[in-house]
Amino acid sequence: MPVPFIIAIDGHSSCGKSTLARAVAGELGFIYIDSGAMYRAVTFYFLKKNIDLQDNEAVKAALDQINIELKAGQEGMQVFLNGRDITGDIRKMPVSNLVSKVSAIPEVRDKMVKLQRDMGKKENLVMDGRDIGTVVFPQASLKIFMTADPGVRARRRYEELRAKGLAVSLEEIHKNLLKRDHEDTTRAWSPLLKAPDALELDNSCMSREEQLSWIMKKIKERL
Ligand code: DC
Repeated sequence: MPVPFIIAIDGHSSCGKSTLARAVAGELGFIYIDSGAMYRAVTFYFLKKNIDLQDNEAVKAALDQINIELKAGQEGMQVFLNGRDITGDIRKMPVSNLVSKVSAIPEVRDKMVKLQRDMGKKENLVMDGRDIGTVVFPQASLKIFMTADPGVRARRRYEELRAKGLAVSLEEIHKNLLKRDHEDTTRAWSPLLKAPDALELDNSCMSREEQLSWIMKKIKERL
């Protein structure tokens, strides 16, 4: 069996990783996996069950109860937790506010990384996240590290959530984003880092089309 072609897209929160990853996957007929959605699903479960994040035994027991499934839906990837569709729930502020803390727990990361590696064993895929090129798939065929100005990122996220009808403030989003940047880059386990062999893409002033053609050029060089 040929080795799957894996494209790893890492970078800061809300810089359009998922949008670009989904577009690339669509263009190539690859599977698209939003690894952040998996950490969000775990966070949603912990919130629902009131799990104390300091209680290691409770965290481990809760992880054993979690089954996450990702399915390609009409409007993008759908996330199922123990059979229930939680695609909308995981984008809401309670989950956004806690997800960095949950994703810093080593046992949570272990479980997610195993699931993600299993997904990359058989099929070509595009996966976006924070540690995809550094930890999950250090052998990825192409690694991209995305970033953009925080003000631009906050405004994009704000418009995206407003379009979905969610009542959010730009200030709250900006604060949450800076907090997550800080937590994601300073955590002890798998902090957000640019892999030495990753190509950097700052998309502050780029359209979606420009980003897609930039990455497709890089892919063609490697295929
Ligand atoms: O991509 P996102 O904003 O939906 O990710 C949600 C959180 O999950 C983010 O704060 C960092 C964490 N995350 C992670 O630690 N590792 C990943 N591979 C993906 C996301």
